[in-house]
Amino acid sequence: MATFFEGESHTFSEYLLVPGYSSAENIPANVSLRTPLVRFKRGEEPALSLNIPMVSAIMQAVSGPKLAVALAQEGGLSFIYGSQSADDEAAMVREVKSYKAGFVVSDSTLTPDMTLGQVMEMKERTGHSTMPVTDDGTSHGHLVGIVTSRDYRPSRDDRAKLVSEFMTPREKMIVAEDGTSLKTANDIIWDNKLNQLPIVDADNRLVALVFRKDYDSHKSRPDELLDQHKRYLVGAGINTRDYAERVPKLVDAGADVLCIDSSEGFSEWQKRTLAWIRENYGDSVRVGAGNVVDAEGFRFLADCGADFVKVGIGGGSICITREQKGIGRGQASALIDVCRARDEYYEETGVYVPVCSDGGIVYDYHMTLALAMGADFLMLGRYFARFDESPTRRVNVNGSYMKEYWGEGSARARNWQRYDLGGNKKGLSFVEGVDSYVPYAGPLKENVDNSLLKVRSTMCNCGALDLAEFREKAKLTLVSATSLVEGGAHDVLLKDSSQQVNFRS
Ligand code: XMP
Repeated sequence: MATFFEGESHTFSEYLLVPGYSSAENIPANVSLRTPLVRFKRGEEPALSLNIPMVSAIMQAVSGPKLAVALAQEGGLSFIYGSQSADDEAAMVREVKSYKAGFVVSDSTLTPDMTLGQVMEMKERTGHSTMPVTDDGTSHGHLVGIVTSRDYRPSRDDRAKLVSEFMTPREKMIVAEDGTSLKTANDIIWDNKLNQLPIVDADNRLVALVFRKDYDSHKSRPDELLDQHKRYLVGAGINTRDYAERVPKLVDAGADVLCIDSSEGFSEWQKRTLAWIRENYGDSVRVGAGNVVDAEGFRFLADCGADFVKVGIGGGSICITREQKGIGRGQASALIDVCRARDEYYEETGVYVPVCSDGGIVYDYHMTLALAMGADFLMLGRYFARFDESPTRRVNVNGSYMKEYWGEGSARARNWQRYDLGGNKKGLSFVEGVDSYVPYAGPLKENVDNSLLKVRSTMCNCGALDLAEFREKAKLTLVSATSLVEGGAHDVLLKDSSQQVNFRS
């Protein structure tokens, strides 16, 4: 006889929080969202923690180096996608680890013989108005000048005019030597009333640019997630097939944590992958595993040595695994079951194995609910895909800006390793994900700040100042279909449709 789980399988939208007593201390500014990322023993501190409980999904359409830097600046972490060659993935990890906050490698560099027309096209494409000029047009060529919007008048100047005729030449520029600290660079900027300062090496090759505006924003990032060398933390996805080749490359590139990326983690393949990493690296390499949707799956991966366990099958916005294969479980029910198992495991063994809720977050309040249900942190795909920093194109669809977003199980991603059960390596025989658009939402920072303000605010309503206290104090109730209607604006005609809070933006 098959096992039947008691009750139905529920999703986040079917729950609400009932507020508790909030004291005068319970204000959002006092709330800490710091949370463990990897397993730790009772009485000890985790080797790695996050400053905000958010990680970005291991997906081509989500986690590239640019998003990884932007998210680490806010206190979260990206897992660079593994559905590319090990060398390409390691190069992306290296790019994040070598990123120096405040030092920008130019991505719009000119040559002296380009025309004003080409400058204006580049400005339109990149949105950057400051462009260094190098002899070969590369970001590390010999510096010969700089063009800013003060050097030409688009309405009057001839578009055929050459850059060499209107740029500020190198002799008239103030530059700083490679090795200059960000603080010193900023002092030079202020003392000389500059907007940007090029950094050059001893051979006059361009190294980076420091911008006045970046220094100020750098100072306003209290949650930045840095390693002991002040580099941003970054994770990387691996699979259960080529780990012997991939893991050493990622470790060498400086990945701080790995995660086995699979649609179904309760398997011999994950056990072998974890065992191989422990045999070769002991505890010096941290690795999460998943995904599972019940207590049994959690215990299996915790016993295999997973550093964290990821929960969720088929709840992702682009997932069609449930429709295709009939496996999965409502994300809220899966999470509650696994978090209970984590707490029991901690009681029994004294080892705390963090739980990551992966997929299915639509509204910001779903994040709050997942944390109340016990998630230590959340993995989000659709949420991050909408931002400027995600690696995909922004496109205009019927007059609205959209970003592309496709599943790792879609024909477009061709990530067969994620779904592999040891069979055919030639390609997916059926897809488990779709290719889609999501509404463009602007820069990551503004969105994350706004979402987390809501999380902090609800935590205060429940009388909690940190995530552990929130889990203790949270009171959750299931809602009926009709009370869901009551919860949105209802029985009124909205003057402005943008006031519609329950819009899936
Ligand atoms: P959200 O809802 O945040 O979900 O967009 C992201 C998570 O979805 C999973 N994922 C997939 N699941 N088919 C699936 O069944 C797919 O093609 C696919 N791509 C990603 C993954 O766990 C991710 O973190």
